[in-house]
Amino acid sequence: MKSQISIDGPAASGKTSIGRKVSSHLKFRFLDTGLMYRAATWIVIKNNINIDNEFEIISSVTNSNFSINSTIKEDSLFIDNYNVISELRTSEIDKYVSQVSKIAKVRETLVNQQRSIAASGNIVMVGRDIGSVVLPNADIKIYLDASLEIRAKRRFEEVKGSTKLSFKEIKQDLEKRDIIDSNRKISPLTIPEDATVVNTDNLTISQVIEKIISIVEI
Ligand code: CDP
Repeated sequence: MKSQISIDGPAASGKTSIGRKVSSHLKFRFLDTGLMYRAATWIVIKNNINIDNEFEIISSVTNSNFSINSTIKEDSLFIDNYNVISELRTSEIDKYVSQVSKIAKVRETLVNQQRSIAASGNIVMVGRDIGSVVLPNADIKIYLDASLEIRAKRRFEEVKGSTKLSFKEIKQDLEKRDIIDSNRKISPLTIPEDATVVNTDNLTISQVIEKIISIVEI
């Protein structure tokens, strides 16, 4: 029985919508680990902590109580009993999240939670370091890729009604996050050795989902 599926890839590669649909098809649980790093960044911003103050960032993140719950339709993420889920996909969080995510102690705290969530049954987990670090023994490892141009177009379409950012600014933000995420010392974004790379440039979401399901069901 295949019980753990990891999906990694750069910003806006479609991991979340694709991972959620794959999990629903397989009747597996779903965990979007990006939300946890976004929640850590939410804490940093709410507490007015300077982004260079690692000590304060670590102490505020490790002293907060996170509780994430994902269903097939939606997620909730409580920090000390307050649901922050609708506040995690802002341009301010986009701007700082990669800097918070590169801090070793922040990663250690969140990775421990991700592993303990995975331990209780079948799961599709999406992120940057899932196949390489969080679940190195995952049964199926997928790496979703797409060109920066296409990813920026998709993200722009997704957020254009709710943001003042231009296409160019969105593209720059994705590029900047990819550079920090791929070059950090601890668990950088990388293609796990035993992963299947799926390039989604010329595929629709349904085609990608079909492809992943066909890999899982071999
Ligand atoms: O949805 P999008 O691809 O824009 O980003 P996300 O998956 O929500 O992740 C936001 C940020 O969290 C990334 O840019 C990484 O800095 C960080 N992250 C990480 O370091 N490790 C993970 N497993 C997931 C996200």
